[in-house]
Amino acid sequence: MAVLVTGGTGFIGSHAVVELIEDGRDVVILDNLSNSKECVLDRIEKITGKRPAFRKVDLLDMEGVRGVFREFPEIDCVIHFAGLKAVGESVAKPMLYYHNNLTGTLNLCHAMEEAGVRRIVFSSSATVYGKPDSVPIREDFPLRTTNPYGETKLMIERILSDITVAYPEWSVSILRYFNPIGAHVSGLIGEDPKGIPNNLLPYITKVAGGKLPCLSVYGNDYNTHDGTGVRDYIHVVDLAKAHLCALDRAAKVKGIEYFNIGTGNGYSVLDIVAAYEKATGIKINYKIVDRRPGDIDECYADPAKAKELLGWEAQYGIERMCEDSARWQKLNPDGYGE
Ligand code: WQD
Repeated sequence: MAVLVTGGTGFIGSHAVVELIEDGRDVVILDNLSNSKECVLDRIEKITGKRPAFRKVDLLDMEGVRGVFREFPEIDCVIHFAGLKAVGESVAKPMLYYHNNLTGTLNLCHAMEEAGVRRIVFSSSATVYGKPDSVPIREDFPLRTTNPYGETKLMIERILSDITVAYPEWSVSILRYFNPIGAHVSGLIGEDPKGIPNNLLPYITKVAGGKLPCLSVYGNDYNTHDGTGVRDYIHVVDLAKAHLCALDRAAKVKGIEYFNIGTGNGYSVLDIVAAYEKATGIKINYKIVDRRPGDIDECYADPAKAKELLGWEAQYGIERMCEDSARWQKLNPDGYGE
């Protein structure tokens, strides 16, 4: 049997593919390469000794999606990463985000039902909680998104929930990620954002690598221990492993389940800067600037449900996350290149 991984050449997707292959599972990657590079397949093969099957297909191409299920009848489950995910871009281009993320997912679900594939793990996000009333965040907290990107994640959660009501044979596992950072220990795969990074860790690694002059810390007047934003940073390999646990549980449980995938620890921006400097010996220049619109004070998970029902918990600490990020940046100063 095989796992179809949509978005499998992306940051989190590629790390999940490595874990799947190393766990002895066959993988088929479906990716349109809109935010990743085909050379990631070479890196996956270098790490695992196996090259996953790959089809360059856009989820908006219904016949293309159907074709993958026809070509690979051994597919019996799906991990769905593919989607646009830049918060700021989603505010500027809502129609693009709703069309791409929702229609693409609906096409995938249609093709799955036609092929009799009824087990899916979906890449959701803690962004569905918006600004929480308290922390740590449990899965039963209120859902209230603050941007079109987050809205697409919440809508897809509801689409999948309605599917499990109409089709009781479906098994759906919703993984709500907190802040994925780090890279595979080999330094062969990692985060390779286009242009100037939006997210904290890739920005810091670019400053450390001399690619950017200075980190702008977005506000130091938040209600946190040092005034800078607090988040639950989780190693991307820990996150990847959670998907295997979710696939296995979904093989035994019908219906829909939701899991917060975080460490349960909150770190501020300045905590991360200090951890990165300690892990690498590199000084990170930074300046305090105004808050970024839409940012929240604190966000970190209560990961108890994932531990209890998935048998999963994060293994790596912030130091290892910074060390692995730094190694990826050092070995790939220009990411995967052109
Ligand atoms: C983290 C902290 C910033 C950059 C986003 C998405 C979320 C998910 C993860 C997709 C905040 C501060 C950042 C910088 C800074 N993505 N910061 N200077 O905003 O928590 O979450 O990425 O699912 O949906 O919303 O992550 O890394 O952008 O910010 O000071 O140059 O770092 O203010 O406190 P965020 P982030």
